[in-house]
Amino acid sequence: MNASEFRRRGKEMVDYVADYLEGIEGRPVYPDVEPGYLRPLIPTAAPQEPEAFEDIINDIEKIIMPGVTHWHSPYFFAYFPTASSYPAMLADMLCGAIGCIGFSWAASPACTELETVMMDWLGKMLQLPEAFLAGKAGEGGGVIQGSASEATLVALLAARTKVIRQLQAQSPELTQAAIMEKLVAYSSDQAHSSVERAGLIGGVKLKAIPSDGKFAMRASALQEALEQDKAAGLIPFFFADSFNFNPHKWLLVNFDCSAMWGKKRTDLTGAFKLDPVYLKHSHQDSGLITDYRGSNQLNEALLQRINSAKKIHLVPCHLRDKIVLRFAVCARTVESAHVQFAWEHIKELAGDVLRVEKE
Ligand SMILES: Cc1ncc(COP(=O)(O)O)c(C=O)c1O
Repeated sequence: MNASEFRRRGKEMVDYVADYLEGIEGRPVYPDVEPGYLRPLIPTAAPQEPEAFEDIINDIEKIIMPGVTHWHSPYFFAYFPTASSYPAMLADMLCGAIGCIGFSWAASPACTELETVMMDWLGKMLQLPEAFLAGKAGEGGGVIQGSASEATLVALLAARTKVIRQLQAQSPELTQAAIMEKLVAYSSDQAHSSVERAGLIGGVKLKAIPSDGKFAMRASALQEALEQDKAAGLIPFFFADSFNFNPHKWLLVNFDCSAMWGKKRTDLTGAFKLDPVYLKHSHQDSGLITDYRGSNQLNEALLQRINSAKKIHLVPCHLRDKIVLRFAVCARTVESAHVQFAWEHIKELAGDVLRVEKE
């Protein structure tokens, strides 16, 4: 599909989506199909030749829509609301076009910065305590997860890592396994099943605290369980130091957007830190002294020049004890001329690095 067809098909798709949502009330909310209905309706293997776009769109109405449960039908009262809105759909289109992966600040600065600021906005709207906000110098802050289940698991694993590190700092002879055997997490007996699952995945005991007549967990019941467990030599480690809810359920944002806040964001980032070299960047840890020698030093210097010039962008990796500049051909639209340009640029900068080295 080239750009001019994309413009045409995009407008047709917007019309299709608007018609779908305008007419959704007329569709049966729950599909009238049996398990396995789809397989006989489509070829057994992917087509060898591309199909016409019209044929694909026709298949959506003929084959897919009959098996769709229409979560946005006004007759849908099941599970929970899943949010969707026209602005969010347009935003999804833009995200698809930018198509960046924001795993670090340097991987796409606007990604991280927008997430941090929007999570502060949302936190303020919810009147979360100041400690949960990043602000300009705060220790807290929010991060977007895919689902609440993921957020619970992340929180539990972070808390687990924190307590293990604390106890090992006090008593270095303690093994991780010996500590984990004694860890206990606590939740209300009304908590979602994903909390129990987080305990299973995290390999720790999870105690359900009995709720009161109004299904609320009482501090006194938690206190009692804590005292019992401590007396039995167990180590309570996980209550609530974080908060999460799903804008993709409540706030017109399409799946997936699960907003999670913590009072100390280094508890989260520190727990899962591995530090592969391709994720390092100059703004990350200014105190970092990297002891690369010989050709490693030259490669580092070359990489620094390449990324400062900003004509192309590369990241390094380690190959055993060597630091290597990775040249990955990434974009779908890369042509030989782009690679040639990059190569000439790298050669020129490498020449500069060697000249400086000689001097
Ligand atoms: C209270 C509560 N916790 C956790 C979840 C799990 O959420 P998710 O589907 O985002 O993992 C739900 C889902 O409805 C929920 O209502």
